[in-house]
Amino acid sequence: MAYCSRIVGTGSHLPDQIMTNAQLVEKLDTTDEWIVERTGIRERRIAREGESTSALAFQAAENALEAAELTAQDIDLVIVATTTPDNTFPSTATKVQAMLGMDNGAAFDVQAVCSGFIYALSIGDNFIRAGQAKNVLVIGAEVMTRILDWTDRATCVLFGDGAGAVVLQAQEIEEGDKLGILSTHLHSDGKLRDLLYVDGGPGTNGNVGHLRMLGREVFRHAVTNLAAVVGEALDANGYDQADIDWLVPHQANKRILDGTARKLGLSAEQVVVTVDRHANTSAASVPLALDEAVRDGRIQPGQLVLMEAMGGGLTWGAALVRW
Ligand code: ACO
Repeated sequence: MAYCSRIVGTGSHLPDQIMTNAQLVEKLDTTDEWIVERTGIRERRIAREGESTSALAFQAAENALEAAELTAQDIDLVIVATTTPDNTFPSTATKVQAMLGMDNGAAFDVQAVCSGFIYALSIGDNFIRAGQAKNVLVIGAEVMTRILDWTDRATCVLFGDGAGAVVLQAQEIEEGDKLGILSTHLHSDGKLRDLLYVDGGPGTNGNVGHLRMLGREVFRHAVTNLAAVVGEALDANGYDQADIDWLVPHQANKRILDGTARKLGLSAEQVVVTVDRHANTSAASVPLALDEAVRDGRIQPGQLVLMEAMGGGLTWGAALVRW
């Protein structure tokens, strides 16, 4: 007997506070034109004081559970991908587990920065394939705006806050059936860690630190690595680019999205884009975009959905799903 993971519910949650480019221009040497032209970002959400990563994650999880018609008691594993945990410990996932009222299962965080959701999805999928979990809550949640240097115009305009979640459910399949999560592909190259990092942490100087980035270098690696991992995911399943119905990419930058879509021969309509309204929400960006496209009816049962992301580490990965 074999199992596959089906995505049986999606959910998301955004802080209600919006910061437009025009508001940024009031306190920073930048322009709306520069930000839109280089990134496609027009506005981002900013968590209010006291609005924590776990609070955003909890709301997204509730929405995903409702969509899946399950309760928290049905869940046996909670994985939160985040680079902005509420505390150094305990994990944000255990906080969410408590907020959901769960008194069973296991919970832990995954840290792969902007690739975190793909990493967490891969782990959840493997727990299900191994028969170790039946219903897994996979969440990406971030308050990136709390680790930004608001005097560094090259980075602070790029990020936003939010959370997205999916419920994975084990389904018995015959060998060779192509259903649910078909495969996941993870990569990292720690030699490139200095291209995108936070200059603090409990293990170094005890400060939370601020995000630092060599933008051009990250951009260059993003385009190459994403094309490679997407090719790997298609090859592994015997598909080619023309088989893809939807690309749900990490929302870092409209130019990276356009470049990837061009390489894949996809039309602009086949790419789910939220970066204009959400900016880069790191581990939350893929599940936020996915939830939007599921709820507005773009993604339909039977379609082939490709998710990909790249982030600090460097880390990158992809997941191919038969919806
Ligand atoms: N407003 C106005 N001018 C700015 C701003 C700003 N907000 N930020 C930088 N500039 C200026 C710079 O000072 C520089 O000026 P100079 O030429 O006088 O020195 C000029 O713009 C060009 O700066 P670059 O950094 O070379 O600009 P670039 O064209 O590379 O665009 C950007 C910067 C948008 C960050 C781009 O490199 C990029 O998108 N990189 C990808 C990084 C990314 O998305 N990271 C997210 C995390 S990783 C991930 O999720 C994939």
